[in-house]
Amino acid sequence: MKNSKLLKVLSVAGMGILSVGMLAGCGGGQSANQAVAGEEAVASETPAASETPATSEGIEATETPASDNVIVMGTNAEFEPFEYRENGMDIVGFDVEIAEKIAEHLGKELVIEDMAFDTLIMALNSDKIDFIAAGMTATDERRTQVDFSEAYFQSQQMIIVKADNTSISTADDLVGKNVGVQLGTTGDLFVSGTEGIASVAQFPTGTQAVMDLKNGKLDAVVIDAEPAKKMTEGQSDLKLLEAPFVEEEYAIAIKKGDEELLTAINETLEEIKANGTYDEIYAKYFGTAE
Ligand code: ARG
Repeated sequence: MKNSKLLKVLSVAGMGILSVGMLAGCGGGQSANQAVAGEEAVASETPAASETPATSEGIEATETPASDNVIVMGTNAEFEPFEYRENGMDIVGFDVEIAEKIAEHLGKELVIEDMAFDTLIMALNSDKIDFIAAGMTATDERRTQVDFSEAYFQSQQMIIVKADNTSISTADDLVGKNVGVQLGTTGDLFVSGTEGIASVAQFPTGTQAVMDLKNGKLDAVVIDAEPAKKMTEGQSDLKLLEAPFVEEEYAIAIKKGDEELLTAINETLEEIKANGTYDEIYAKYFGTAE
């Protein structure tokens, strides 16, 4: 992973061609939605453009992850309680604390790059980041592009509707409805892949989807359980449906074949689960330890 500059340049040159195809694959024609959270969403024009230091808004971001004493986590800090900006500033959350432990295990300093969720895998595969910790569900489809650590969190998809909504109570009721999702997430894949949904609105962040729900532009938002709880907390005009669907597991994504980092991450997860650290972090963000 800590490859030489030369190797990096070579792999980036290859990406120029690759990224166009990958983009088409993950953008789903919604490229307008991608001009969001930091990062030049794609840099697909020329291979040279990809090599230009990212003008990321990630607060702790450095130009490249090239240095040997740092390890770069890629995330999308729009996903409380897993990763979010505290007072709009520092990126904190459950995933950040897990990542801190990984960095500690490696004896490196953690650097965080914040970017649009649907650009994370591309950033990983073009060496802009070393791993993804973003509440990312380990799906078979993603396994064709990245390797995943052991799972570190169980999750589900949930549905948010307006408090006065009476027509939606399960995922089946989404048929014929206007549904909002965060672009490129498993919620997006589920809704986009469901026959009969009237329209799927793909947003850069889940928060924006919930705004449109509040404004009456959408009938429902499909998003992961814990962020859904955060987004509806204290919102009397919103209701989180009790019926979770699609069980998922979050895992850390690393570049395919990066055995050394994979081992280090799995060792860290094992270690913190065994020594109580995981439970402590869990309790901090979710109240009681499982
Ligand atoms: N678990 C879902 C997925 O993997 C959503 C993750 C969104 N994460 C984020 N940091 N915005 O697609």
